[in-house]
Amino acid sequence: MSEPDIKETVKEKYAEAAMKVLEGERASCGPSGACGCDPVSSNLYDATETVGLPEGAVLASLGCGNPTALAELHAGETVLDLGSGGGIDVLLSAKRVGPSGKAYGLDMTDEMLALARENQRKAGVSNVEFLKGEIESIPLPDASVDVIISNCVINLSADKRRVIAEAFRVLKPGGRFAVSDVVCRGEVPAAVRRSMELWVGCVAGALEETEYQQLLAQAGFVDIGVEPTRIYQFEDARAVLSGVGLDAEVLAREVSGRIMGAFIRARKP
Ligand SMILES: C[S@@+](CC[C@H](N)C(=O)[O-])C[C@H]1O[C@@H](n2cnc3c(N)ncnc32)[C@H](O)[C@@H]1O
Repeated sequence: MSEPDIKETVKEKYAEAAMKVLEGERASCGPSGACGCDPVSSNLYDATETVGLPEGAVLASLGCGNPTALAELHAGETVLDLGSGGGIDVLLSAKRVGPSGKAYGLDMTDEMLALARENQRKAGVSNVEFLKGEIESIPLPDASVDVIISNCVINLSADKRRVIAEAFRVLKPGGRFAVSDVVCRGEVPAAVRRSMELWVGCVAGALEETEYQQLLAQAGFVDIGVEPTRIYQFEDARAVLSGVGLDAEVLAREVSGRIMGAFIRARKP
């Protein structure tokens, strides 16, 4: 599939997920288990963190980690969330940076932006702004952001080098990249890589961990680290792979322990 086709398919899937939440259901974005259901997106946030957040922001959570819990965020800073979805991490960031700071969410899907803005209205926060756009072409000036966060989105892009270059461009010198994403350790079977359903489910497009580090280094980042936060074992892998027309049993054995949710950190010098 070409890059524009991938983008359109991703947009359609996440528009559906947003509509579900707008109708009061929990979001999901793929076949059983793929990103949005167990085991990737369940139980990422502590109840103490989500208390006070609008229900729609929690129901829409489609991440694979909890970047604001792992990122260093200070009062007065500007945070940008790449692929902000229903806005959960933007609202959590806004609390951390306080009224003198600002949290931007960037998303390309109109339905997700509508949901996120509704969640912002319900949360009653003013230091938040949701922008429409693509993470491959961030609509913010150079050196304007202190911290880039993202939760299970960069794997969805067909041009990850460009996303990372854009993240580098908008960060201020000393700015931090603090992203949760699905990554692989070693080779993943070609059948998994080819599945479009597994692409929109955050698995097929996942970067190999050393490749992620290389792309960050080539863009100019330093202090790069990839830290596993949840390693998907056989049962998890089977849940993710089932329902996509592949032999889940066999492939799950092959990928068990090789696909993981990870926290990726780096710094712009
Ligand atoms: C897996 S969901 C994650 C949403 C959110 N980060 C969370 O943790 O709930 C992916 C989100 O990224 C958005 N997205 C995917 N690819 C994108 C791109 N290339 N540019 C902008 N947004 C994108 C989708 O519209 C969707 O809202």
